[in-house]
Amino acid sequence: MPDTNIKTEILIHDLKVPISVINAGARSLLERQDAYGPLTEKQIKVLKRIVRNTLATQHLVNDVLELGRSREGVKICSQFTVASLVVGVLVEVFDLADPNVADAIRNAASYPRLQAAIGTAGVTLDFAQQTWETCVCLDAAKVRQILRNLVTNAFKHRADRVDIRGVIRENRLTLWVKDDGRGIPRSDQQRIFETYFTTGGSIEDAIQSHGLGLAGVMVLLRDMGGKLVLDSDSGRGAEFKVVIPL
Ligand SMILES: Nc1ncnc2c1ncn2[C@@H]1O[C@H](COP(=O)(O)OP(=O)(O)OP(=O)(O)O)[C@@H](O)[C@H]1O
Ligand SMILES: [Mg+2]
Repeated sequence: MPDTNIKTEILIHDLKVPISVINAGARSLLERQDAYGPLTEKQIKVLKRIVRNTLATQHLVNDVLELGRSREGVKICSQFTVASLVVGVLVEVFDLADPNVADAIRNAASYPRLQAAIGTAGVTLDFAQQTWETCVCLDAAKVRQILRNLVTNAFKHRADRVDIRGVIRENRLTLWVKDDGRGIPRSDQQRIFETYFTTGGSIEDAIQSHGLGLAGVMVLLRDMGGKLVLDSDSGRGAEFKVVIPL
């Protein structure tokens, strides 16, 4: 690996500690008012925003480190259920989008309760019980990053709904993430997988969208021997399908 890459990766790695300290500090103020003193509504709002943004930064840092690990051919396989994968991603996405829904997801004790919790936010799940409960042996961080990127994109671009579907068949895990947004014109369907390609034009878009998510998804999928199929067109929403060999 070139020297500059290592330096950048070590710098990114070293961000983990200060971000955790900021996160823990803000959480202590919020959760331990008995020890740190009472807060006003406005202070609570600001502190919650700080916590959400430290979480977002932690995701970014972990994603970059995971890509570096993938590039070096490092795989860390573990056993986890499809349910824990999907629930984990939904919690991460909703921790940023709507913390109340994130809490409802954490507390949902069954698949129907989980569906009810996310249904209010326009998300549907379609998993057969057998798939949902199956234990797969994969690199959890990579699969999670793939699914989180697709779900985050669907959230960003949807009109009203996001549908997540999954099946295990012939020793492969297939996941679909579908939204009902503006869709992706055929002319952009290659380019969205390039690094730094985005379709947004405003300053806000530039801050929110780096055009790295899907490029990262492709790197991770390639390293896992998986593939991605996009089904979309202008005005027709977008459906991303990923197939991961088990
Ligand atoms: N579900 C979707 N519907 C419409 N356009 C999409 C969708 N998913 C991705 N795109 C388009 O593909 C581009 C690249 O997506 P990608 O995830 O790589 O980057 P991003 O979401 O813009 O930024 P980030 O680096 O934060 O993920 C997006 O800017 C968007 O234009
Ligand atoms: Mg993205």
